[in-house]
Amino acid sequence: MMESLYSPDTKTHDESRQGEAYALPVDASLQYKKHFYIESYGCAMNFADTEVVASILQSSGFGATKNVEDADLIFINTCSIREKAELSVRKRLTEFRSLKRAKPGTLVGVLGCMAERLKAKFLEEEKLVDMVVGPDAYRTLPGLIEEAGTGQKAVNVLLSRDETYGDIAPIRLNSNGVTAFVSIMRGCNNMCAFCVVPFTRGRERSRDANSILNECEELFNTGYREVTLLGQNVDSYYWNDEQNNRQVTFAMLLEKVALISPLLRVRFSTSHPKDITDEVLFTIAKYENICNYIHLPVQSGSSRILQLMNRTYTREWYIAKVNRIREILPDCGLSTDMITGFCTETEEDHQQSLSLMEYCKYDLAYMYFYSERPGTLAERRYKDDIPEPIKKRRLQEMVDLYRGHSLQSMQKEVGKTFKVLIEGVSKKSDNDLYGRNDQNKVIVFAKGDLKKGDYVMVKVESCTAGTLLGKAAP
Ligand code: SAM
Ligand code: SF4
Ligand code: F3S
Repeated sequence: MMESLYSPDTKTHDESRQGEAYALPVDASLQYKKHFYIESYGCAMNFADTEVVASILQSSGFGATKNVEDADLIFINTCSIREKAELSVRKRLTEFRSLKRAKPGTLVGVLGCMAERLKAKFLEEEKLVDMVVGPDAYRTLPGLIEEAGTGQKAVNVLLSRDETYGDIAPIRLNSNGVTAFVSIMRGCNNMCAFCVVPFTRGRERSRDANSILNECEELFNTGYREVTLLGQNVDSYYWNDEQNNRQVTFAMLLEKVALISPLLRVRFSTSHPKDITDEVLFTIAKYENICNYIHLPVQSGSSRILQLMNRTYTREWYIAKVNRIREILPDCGLSTDMITGFCTETEEDHQQSLSLMEYCKYDLAYMYFYSERPGTLAERRYKDDIPEPIKKRRLQEMVDLYRGHSLQSMQKEVGKTFKVLIEGVSKKSDNDLYGRNDQNKVIVFAKGDLKKGDYVMVKVESCTAGTLLGKAAP
């Protein structure tokens, strides 16, 4: 039984690229002090953080290696969102033990959300770990490496109210050279009862709009053609531009990024149903290069459960938002996150989640069964009272329902022609290319004379459950 379902082609969600190791552009002419290997788990924001970490390490004289056996420093950027995510990290750490034994002096550092959640306790639980570094402490990594090099354990898990790493140019890792993530904010002020993120990432803070625009412009000038603006709750982005005496909202930021060039596609994730505004929807409608795709996690279709989850909206409010999106953006792709088996969830609540999915007919859904997280509101207030087999059975029912919707969503595109941004060569055949349309659907088509980074009109001829298959229009 699967715990979650995700499209292998999207890179915007937690655990979608679990455990990916990175290849960096290594400058062979430089003499490096030490070599580091880094592996990342969790959401797109964690992957974006790894690119910041790589930048900090490289500018301090450390060189990257893709082979963990060659590394003097092994880093693992971790996720705490569900128990399963933490178990994968623990398992990986046991594999590092033998590497450390084979090469004494190798240092192991734990970064990210698990480091923040467990703090120094990590060192007691996992004896091979030398450094524990929280998401707001990456600037101190060079000092911590030095400290750990003397045989001491090094820990920095201080959370900050204003760190955004806005001035650090991330090193694009394993990049296709066409699409990139750009963090626009950090942390989260919402206290969803099930969620560990506010505890591992701290208070919400927005990044200087000018530094975001500079990064996007730089990406465009070096050949990138799509940016995805990242935050746990992008609609609450808010930057006080003191120099020009004005405030920048998310809708304004979207517009500014869209104006960099009509050839630069703009995506964003994640939107919270309570915060997404008409202004944002009208901005999407106004600019052809802002993609018609919204990830609007609902979590449950039962207003009673939504209240226990502290999501601050009801089923009716959510449906009204979806209706509004479809009114202003009739072709908009829509996706969601769902949790089954949250505390006290009855069969009737579960049926309401299914009926909401039936109403919304999501193009993409990420579905999970509830995993109690230490320290969260739900852990402190409620009993995790739904037995795991029931959580999993409900999840399977949800996955089955969703599969029908996603297939319908793909089938309805057959015969249509879409503008596609080419991202690279198809995994299945060197003779084919792949890219995505405005609504985030993956399309595969014959290569011809086309190359990645180009836009092309593609007519869809058939589909599978996850991919559209087409032909480039002459
Ligand atoms: N900020 C986003 C939002 O508000 O929807 C996403 C946060 S989280 C990184 C991604 C998803 O993980 C959530 O939307 C939720 O469905 C799921 N999730 C979070 N905590 C969970 C838990 N304790 N058990 C199961 N799923 C969880
Ligand atoms: Fe977690 Fe809720 Fe914040 Fe999303 S909005 S990160 S689910 S607390
Ligand atoms: Fe992301 Fe996991 Fe942390 S989903 S914010 S890496 S808990």
